[in-house]
Amino acid sequence: MSFLPFAGLRLIRPLLVPLRALVRGQWLRESDVDALLRACHRGWALDRVYARVEARQWVADDMLELRLRPNANWRGARPGQHVQLYVEREGVRCSRSYSLTRMAEDGCLEFAVKLQPGGRVSSYLLHQLCVGEMLELGAADGDLSWPQDEQGVLLLAAGSGLTPLLGLLREALVRGYSGPVTLLHYVRERGQKAFVDGLETLARQHPNLELRWALSGDAPVDDELRGRFHPGHVQGLGERHVLACGPGGFVDSVRQALGASSRSLQLESFSPPSWDEGEPARSVNLRFARSALEVAGDSRRSLLEQAEASGLRPAHGCRQGVCASCTCTLVSGCVRDLRSGELFSEPGQPIRICVSAPQGDLTVDL
Ligand code: FES
Repeated sequence: MSFLPFAGLRLIRPLLVPLRALVRGQWLRESDVDALLRACHRGWALDRVYARVEARQWVADDMLELRLRPNANWRGARPGQHVQLYVEREGVRCSRSYSLTRMAEDGCLEFAVKLQPGGRVSSYLLHQLCVGEMLELGAADGDLSWPQDEQGVLLLAAGSGLTPLLGLLREALVRGYSGPVTLLHYVRERGQKAFVDGLETLARQHPNLELRWALSGDAPVDDELRGRFHPGHVQGLGERHVLACGPGGFVDSVRQALGASSRSLQLESFSPPSWDEGEPARSVNLRFARSALEVAGDSRRSLLEQAEASGLRPAHGCRQGVCASCTCTLVSGCVRDLRSGELFSEPGQPIRICVSAPQGDLTVDL
Protein backbone atom coordinates (compact mmCIF):
# COMPACT_ATOMS: atom_id res chain seq x y z
CA MET A 1 0.00 0.00 0.00
CA SER A 2 1.49 3.33 -1.02
CA PHE A 3 0.55 6.79 0.13
CA LEU A 4 2.12 8.35 -2.96
CA PRO A 5 -0.07 8.64 -6.06
CA PHE A 6 0.51 6.46 -9.16
CA ALA A 7 0.49 9.62 -11.29
CA GLY A 8 3.23 11.12 -9.10
CA LEU A 9 5.87 9.59 -11.40
CA ARG A 10 5.08 12.34 -13.90
CA LEU A 11 5.82 15.01 -11.27
CA ILE A 12 9.20 13.58 -10.32
CA ARG A 13 10.34 13.05 -13.94
CA PRO A 14 12.90 15.90 -13.85
CA LEU A 15 14.57 14.14 -10.90
CA LEU A 16 14.94 10.98 -12.98
CA VAL A 17 17.06 12.65 -15.67
CA PRO A 18 20.33 12.64 -13.62
CA LEU A 19 19.55 9.09 -12.43
CA ARG A 20 19.28 7.94 -16.04
CA ALA A 21 22.63 9.54 -16.80
CA LEU A 22 24.19 7.68 -13.85
CA VAL A 23 22.69 4.40 -15.06
CA ARG A 24 23.96 5.01 -18.60
CA GLY A 25 27.42 5.72 -17.18
CA GLN A 26 27.20 2.48 -15.16
CA TRP A 27 27.50 4.37 -11.85
CA LEU A 28 24.14 2.98 -10.78
CA ARG A 29 22.23 -0.15 -11.69
CA GLU A 30 18.77 0.34 -13.18
CA SER A 31 17.42 -2.50 -11.04
CA ASP A 32 18.54 -0.67 -7.86
CA VAL A 33 16.91 2.58 -8.94
CA ASP A 34 13.74 0.68 -9.86
CA ALA A 35 13.70 -1.07 -6.49
CA LEU A 36 13.80 2.33 -4.76
CA LEU A 37 11.12 3.82 -7.00
CA ARG A 38 8.89 0.77 -6.65
CA ALA A 39 9.19 1.05 -2.87
CA CYS A 40 7.61 4.52 -3.23
CA HIS A 41 4.89 3.17 -5.53
CA ARG A 42 4.76 -0.21 -7.25
CA GLY A 43 3.82 1.50 -10.52
CA TRP A 44 6.94 3.68 -10.59
CA ALA A 45 10.17 2.83 -12.43
CA LEU A 46 13.03 4.60 -14.16
CA ASP A 47 12.14 3.51 -17.70
CA ARG A 48 9.95 0.45 -17.42
CA VAL A 49 6.26 0.83 -18.17
CA TYR A 50 3.90 -0.42 -15.47
CA ALA A 51 0.16 -0.15 -15.94
CA ARG A 52 -2.60 -0.38 -13.37
CA VAL A 53 -5.63 -2.52 -14.14
CA GLU A 54 -8.57 -0.10 -14.11
CA ALA A 55 -11.37 -2.40 -15.32
CA ARG A 56 -12.17 -5.87 -16.65
CA GLN A 57 -15.09 -6.68 -18.89
CA TRP A 58 -16.09 -9.91 -20.63
CA VAL A 59 -16.69 -9.23 -24.33
CA ALA A 60 -17.30 -12.87 -25.40
CA ASP A 61 -17.54 -16.22 -23.64
CA ASP A 62 -13.77 -16.64 -23.96
CA MET A 63 -12.52 -13.07 -24.29
CA LEU A 64 -11.94 -10.38 -21.69
CA GLU A 65 -11.23 -6.71 -22.24
CA LEU A 66 -8.71 -5.14 -19.87
CA ARG A 67 -8.51 -1.40 -19.33
CA LEU A 68 -5.02 -0.35 -18.21
CA ARG A 69 -3.59 2.98 -17.15
CA PRO A 70 0.15 3.14 -17.99
CA ASN A 71 2.66 5.15 -15.98
CA ALA A 72 4.44 8.21 -17.32
CA ASN A 73 7.09 6.07 -19.08
CA TRP A 74 4.59 4.90 -21.73
CA ARG A 75 5.76 6.15 -25.13
CA GLY A 76 2.51 5.75 -27.03
CA ALA A 77 1.20 3.49 -29.75
CA ARG A 78 -0.87 3.51 -32.90
CA PRO A 79 -4.22 1.75 -33.28
CA GLY A 80 -3.74 -1.75 -34.70
CA GLN A 81 -0.44 -2.27 -32.87
CA HIS A 82 0.22 -4.90 -30.24
CA VAL A 83 2.02 -4.71 -26.93
CA GLN A 84 3.81 -7.29 -24.84
CA LEU A 85 2.23 -7.87 -21.40
CA TYR A 86 4.55 -9.35 -18.76
CA VAL A 87 3.35 -11.35 -15.77
CA GLU A 88 5.14 -13.44 -13.20
CA ARG A 89 3.74 -16.93 -12.64
CA GLU A 90 5.26 -19.20 -10.01
CA GLY A 91 8.52 -17.26 -10.12
CA VAL A 92 8.76 -17.36 -13.92
CA ARG A 93 8.45 -14.20 -15.96
CA CYS A 94 6.17 -14.81 -18.95
CA SER A 95 4.94 -12.51 -21.66
CA ARG A 96 2.38 -12.49 -24.43
CA SER A 97 1.51 -10.03 -27.12
CA TYR A 98 -1.98 -8.50 -27.18
CA SER A 99 -3.52 -6.00 -29.56
CA LEU A 100 -4.80 -2.62 -28.53
CA THR A 101 -8.54 -2.40 -29.02
CA ARG A 102 -8.76 1.23 -27.93
CA MET A 103 -6.59 4.14 -26.80
CA ALA A 104 -8.91 6.23 -24.68
CA GLU A 105 -8.73 10.01 -24.46
CA ASP A 106 -7.96 9.80 -20.73
CA GLY A 107 -4.73 7.94 -21.51
CA CYS A 108 -6.01 4.43 -20.73
CA LEU A 109 -5.27 1.52 -23.04
CA GLU A 110 -7.66 -1.35 -23.74
CA PHE A 111 -6.60 -4.84 -24.74
CA ALA A 112 -8.66 -7.94 -25.43
CA VAL A 113 -7.34 -11.26 -24.16
CA LYS A 114 -8.69 -14.51 -25.56
CA LEU A 115 -8.49 -17.65 -23.48
CA GLN A 116 -6.02 -20.12 -25.00
CA PRO A 117 -6.58 -23.75 -24.02
CA GLY A 118 -3.78 -24.56 -21.54
CA GLY A 119 -2.45 -20.99 -21.85
CA ARG A 120 -0.69 -20.00 -18.62
CA VAL A 121 -0.74 -16.25 -19.25
CA SER A 122 -4.23 -15.93 -20.74
CA SER A 123 -5.76 -18.08 -18.02
CA TYR A 124 -4.15 -15.89 -15.33
CA LEU A 125 -5.25 -12.66 -17.01
CA LEU A 126 -8.81 -13.88 -17.49
CA HIS A 127 -9.42 -15.60 -14.18
CA GLN A 128 -7.06 -14.21 -11.54
CA LEU A 129 -5.86 -10.72 -12.40
CA CYS A 130 -7.75 -8.17 -10.27
CA VAL A 131 -8.56 -4.50 -10.72
CA GLY A 132 -5.83 -2.42 -9.05
CA GLU A 133 -2.98 -4.85 -9.86
CA MET A 134 0.02 -3.80 -11.95
CA LEU A 135 1.27 -5.32 -15.20
CA GLU A 136 4.45 -4.49 -17.04
CA LEU A 137 4.09 -3.46 -20.69
CA GLY A 138 6.62 -3.64 -23.53
CA ALA A 139 6.86 -1.19 -26.42
CA ALA A 140 4.15 -1.15 -29.07
CA ASP A 141 4.86 -2.86 -32.38
CA GLY A 142 2.99 -3.73 -35.57
CA ASP A 143 2.51 -2.32 -39.05
CA LEU A 144 -1.23 -2.55 -39.73
CA SER A 145 -2.63 0.82 -40.73
CA TRP A 146 -5.93 2.22 -41.94
CA PRO A 147 -5.97 3.02 -45.68
CA GLN A 148 -5.60 6.67 -46.63
CA ASP A 149 -8.37 7.00 -49.22
CA GLU A 150 -12.15 6.60 -48.88
CA GLN A 151 -12.47 3.79 -51.46
CA GLY A 152 -13.82 1.31 -48.93
CA VAL A 153 -12.34 -1.17 -46.50
CA LEU A 154 -12.97 -4.86 -45.92
CA LEU A 155 -11.90 -6.14 -42.49
CA LEU A 156 -11.61 -9.91 -42.22
CA ALA A 157 -10.93 -11.36 -38.78
CA ALA A 158 -10.79 -14.89 -37.41
CA GLY A 159 -10.94 -15.44 -33.64
CA SER A 160 -8.76 -12.98 -31.73
CA GLY A 161 -7.69 -11.48 -35.08
CA LEU A 162 -10.62 -9.15 -34.48
CA THR A 163 -8.71 -7.16 -31.85
CA PRO A 164 -6.19 -5.12 -33.91
CA LEU A 165 -8.83 -4.51 -36.57
CA LEU A 166 -11.25 -3.24 -33.94
CA GLY A 167 -8.64 -0.76 -32.68
CA LEU A 168 -8.15 0.55 -36.22
CA LEU A 169 -11.87 0.63 -36.98
CA ARG A 170 -12.81 2.58 -33.87
CA GLU A 171 -10.14 5.19 -34.49
CA ALA A 172 -11.00 5.56 -38.19
CA LEU A 173 -14.70 6.10 -37.49
CA VAL A 174 -13.97 8.62 -34.74
CA ARG A 175 -11.76 10.48 -37.23
CA GLY A 176 -14.72 10.60 -39.63
CA TYR A 177 -13.86 7.90 -42.20
CA SER A 178 -16.84 7.91 -44.54
CA GLY A 179 -16.05 5.17 -47.10
CA PRO A 180 -17.94 1.87 -46.89
CA VAL A 181 -16.54 -0.54 -44.30
CA THR A 182 -17.48 -4.21 -43.92
CA LEU A 183 -16.28 -6.18 -40.91
CA LEU A 184 -16.61 -9.95 -41.19
CA HIS A 185 -15.65 -11.94 -38.09
CA TYR A 186 -15.17 -15.73 -38.24
CA VAL A 187 -15.76 -17.71 -35.05
CA ARG A 188 -16.55 -21.30 -34.22
CA GLU A 189 -19.42 -20.84 -31.78
CA ARG A 190 -21.93 -18.05 -31.31
CA GLY A 191 -20.62 -17.29 -27.82
CA GLN A 192 -17.24 -16.38 -29.37
CA LYS A 193 -18.71 -13.44 -31.27
CA ALA A 194 -16.86 -10.64 -29.47
CA PHE A 195 -17.72 -6.98 -28.81
CA VAL A 196 -21.17 -7.49 -30.34
CA ASP A 197 -22.93 -4.73 -28.38
CA GLY A 198 -20.15 -2.21 -28.98
CA LEU A 199 -19.97 -3.05 -32.69
CA GLU A 200 -23.72 -2.80 -33.15
CA THR A 201 -23.69 0.59 -31.42
CA LEU A 202 -20.91 1.70 -33.78
CA ALA A 203 -22.90 0.49 -36.79
CA ARG A 204 -25.96 2.47 -35.63
CA GLN A 205 -23.81 5.61 -35.26
CA HIS A 206 -21.97 5.08 -38.56
CA PRO A 207 -24.26 3.86 -41.36
CA ASN A 208 -21.19 3.21 -43.57
CA LEU A 209 -20.25 0.28 -41.28
CA GLU A 210 -21.67 -3.16 -42.10
CA LEU A 211 -21.21 -6.08 -39.69
CA ARG A 212 -21.24 -9.77 -40.58
CA TRP A 213 -20.38 -12.92 -38.67
CA ALA A 214 -19.60 -16.44 -39.90
CA LEU A 215 -19.84 -19.57 -37.74
CA SER A 216 -17.93 -22.76 -38.44
CA GLY A 217 -19.30 -24.82 -35.51
CA ASP A 218 -22.79 -23.69 -34.47
CA ALA A 219 -25.51 -23.64 -37.10
CA PRO A 220 -25.94 -20.10 -38.43
CA VAL A 221 -29.20 -18.22 -37.86
CA ASP A 222 -30.64 -15.06 -39.44
CA ASP A 223 -27.97 -13.41 -41.59
CA GLU A 224 -24.99 -15.24 -40.11
CA LEU A 225 -22.77 -16.97 -42.69
CA ARG A 226 -21.72 -20.60 -42.56
CA GLY A 227 -18.21 -22.01 -42.38
CA ARG A 228 -14.67 -20.76 -42.77
CA PHE A 229 -13.54 -17.97 -45.09
CA HIS A 230 -14.80 -18.36 -48.63
CA PRO A 231 -14.50 -15.77 -51.44
CA GLY A 232 -18.29 -16.06 -51.89
CA HIS A 233 -18.72 -14.46 -48.46
CA VAL A 234 -17.39 -11.13 -49.76
CA GLN A 235 -18.70 -11.24 -53.31
CA GLY A 236 -20.29 -8.03 -54.56
CA LEU A 237 -18.39 -5.69 -52.23
CA GLY A 238 -16.31 -4.27 -55.06
CA GLU A 239 -12.61 -3.52 -55.01
CA ARG A 240 -11.69 -2.64 -51.44
CA HIS A 241 -8.65 -2.24 -49.25
CA VAL A 242 -8.46 -5.53 -47.36
CA LEU A 243 -7.07 -6.02 -43.85
CA ALA A 244 -7.10 -9.60 -42.57
CA CYS A 245 -5.93 -10.93 -39.24
CA GLY A 246 -6.13 -14.40 -37.73
CA PRO A 247 -4.45 -17.81 -37.77
CA GLY A 248 -2.00 -18.61 -40.57
CA GLY A 249 -4.37 -20.84 -42.57
CA PHE A 250 -7.06 -18.17 -42.58
CA VAL A 251 -4.65 -15.44 -43.66
CA ASP A 252 -3.25 -17.68 -46.43
CA SER A 253 -6.78 -18.33 -47.77
CA VAL A 254 -7.49 -14.59 -47.84
CA ARG A 255 -4.18 -13.93 -49.61
CA GLN A 256 -4.92 -16.54 -52.27
CA ALA A 257 -8.54 -15.45 -52.81
CA LEU A 258 -8.21 -11.66 -52.68
CA GLY A 259 -4.53 -10.92 -53.29
CA ALA A 260 -5.07 -10.03 -56.94
CA SER A 261 -8.46 -8.35 -56.71
CA SER A 262 -8.15 -6.07 -53.71
CA ARG A 263 -7.11 -2.41 -53.84
CA SER A 264 -4.47 -3.18 -51.18
CA LEU A 265 -3.89 -6.10 -48.86
CA GLN A 266 -2.54 -6.06 -45.28
CA LEU A 267 -2.25 -9.37 -43.48
CA GLU A 268 -1.29 -10.30 -39.94
CA SER A 269 -1.06 -13.88 -38.80
CA PHE A 270 -1.19 -15.11 -35.20
CA SER A 271 -0.13 -18.72 -35.82
CA PRO A 272 3.32 -20.14 -35.33
CA PRO A 273 5.06 -20.40 -38.71
CA SER A 274 4.60 -23.63 -40.61
CA TRP A 275 7.52 -25.49 -42.12
CA ASP A 276 7.75 -26.58 -45.70
CA GLU A 277 7.51 -30.33 -45.13
CA GLY A 278 8.86 -31.08 -48.59
CA GLU A 279 12.20 -29.41 -48.03
CA PRO A 280 14.96 -31.67 -46.68
CA ALA A 281 16.86 -30.38 -43.64
CA ARG A 282 20.50 -29.42 -44.24
CA SER A 283 23.14 -29.50 -41.52
CA VAL A 284 24.51 -26.10 -40.57
CA ASN A 285 26.94 -24.75 -38.04
CA LEU A 286 25.41 -22.28 -35.56
CA ARG A 287 27.46 -19.85 -33.52
CA PHE A 288 25.76 -17.94 -30.70
CA ALA A 289 28.37 -15.20 -30.30
CA ARG A 290 27.52 -13.65 -26.91
CA SER A 291 27.08 -17.07 -25.32
CA ALA A 292 30.36 -18.27 -26.88
CA LEU A 293 28.56 -21.41 -28.01
CA GLU A 294 28.94 -23.28 -31.28
CA VAL A 295 26.56 -26.15 -32.13
CA ALA A 296 25.44 -28.26 -35.06
CA GLY A 297 22.01 -27.22 -36.30
CA ASP A 298 19.70 -27.64 -39.27
CA SER A 299 18.12 -25.43 -41.90
CA ARG A 300 14.49 -26.18 -41.10
CA ARG A 301 13.90 -25.28 -37.47
CA SER A 302 13.80 -21.73 -36.14
CA LEU A 303 16.90 -20.27 -34.49
CA LEU A 304 14.89 -19.82 -31.29
CA GLU A 305 14.02 -23.50 -31.19
CA GLN A 306 17.60 -24.52 -31.91
CA ALA A 307 19.04 -22.09 -29.34
CA GLU A 308 16.68 -23.52 -26.71
CA ALA A 309 17.61 -27.05 -27.70
CA SER A 310 21.24 -26.05 -27.07
CA GLY A 311 20.45 -24.94 -23.54
CA LEU A 312 20.11 -21.19 -24.13
CA ARG A 313 17.13 -19.21 -22.87
CA PRO A 314 16.65 -16.36 -25.35
CA ALA A 315 14.07 -13.69 -24.53
CA HIS A 316 10.87 -14.30 -26.44
CA GLY A 317 7.13 -13.75 -26.31
CA CYS A 318 4.70 -14.80 -29.03
CA ARG A 319 6.97 -17.24 -30.96
CA GLN A 320 5.07 -16.15 -34.06
CA GLY A 321 7.11 -13.27 -35.42
CA VAL A 322 4.69 -10.68 -34.06
CA CYS A 323 5.97 -9.17 -30.82
CA ALA A 324 9.65 -8.55 -31.74
CA SER A 325 10.86 -9.51 -28.25
CA CYS A 326 13.18 -12.22 -29.66
CA THR A 327 14.95 -9.83 -32.05
CA CYS A 328 18.73 -10.43 -32.32
CA THR A 329 21.40 -9.15 -34.67
CA LEU A 330 22.58 -11.32 -37.53
CA VAL A 331 26.39 -11.20 -37.47
CA SER A 332 27.05 -13.35 -40.55
CA GLY A 333 25.30 -15.96 -42.66
CA CYS A 334 21.83 -16.11 -44.12
CA VAL A 335 18.38 -16.81 -42.63
CA ARG A 336 15.02 -17.58 -44.21
CA ASP A 337 11.86 -15.99 -42.83
CA LEU A 338 9.68 -19.04 -42.17
CA ARG A 339 6.49 -17.07 -42.85
CA SER A 340 7.32 -15.50 -46.19
CA GLY A 341 10.34 -17.51 -47.40
CA GLU A 342 12.30 -14.25 -47.75
CA LEU A 343 16.09 -14.48 -47.29
CA PHE A 344 18.13 -12.07 -45.16
CA SER A 345 21.91 -11.97 -45.18
CA GLU A 346 22.92 -8.39 -44.38
CA PRO A 347 25.40 -8.38 -41.45
CA GLY A 348 24.06 -6.25 -38.60
CA GLN A 349 20.47 -6.84 -39.62
CA PRO A 350 17.91 -7.38 -36.81
CA ILE A 351 16.13 -10.74 -37.17
CA ARG A 352 13.27 -12.32 -35.22
CA ILE A 353 14.79 -15.63 -34.29
CA CYS A 354 11.43 -17.35 -33.67
CA VAL A 355 10.64 -17.15 -37.40
CA SER A 356 14.15 -17.31 -38.86
CA ALA A 357 15.80 -20.55 -39.96
CA PRO A 358 19.50 -20.68 -40.84
CA GLN A 359 20.28 -21.32 -44.50
CA GLY A 360 23.94 -22.17 -43.95
CA ASP A 361 26.62 -21.63 -41.33
CA LEU A 362 25.63 -18.64 -39.32
CA THR A 363 26.60 -16.36 -36.41
CA VAL A 364 23.99 -14.52 -34.42
CA ASP A 365 24.52 -12.06 -31.55
CA LEU A 366 22.90 -14.16 -28.85
S1 FES B 1 8.93 -14.23 -29.93
FE1 FES B 1 7.58 -12.68 -30.68
S2 FES B 1 8.57 -12.10 -32.54
FE2 FES B 1 9.75 -13.75 -31.86
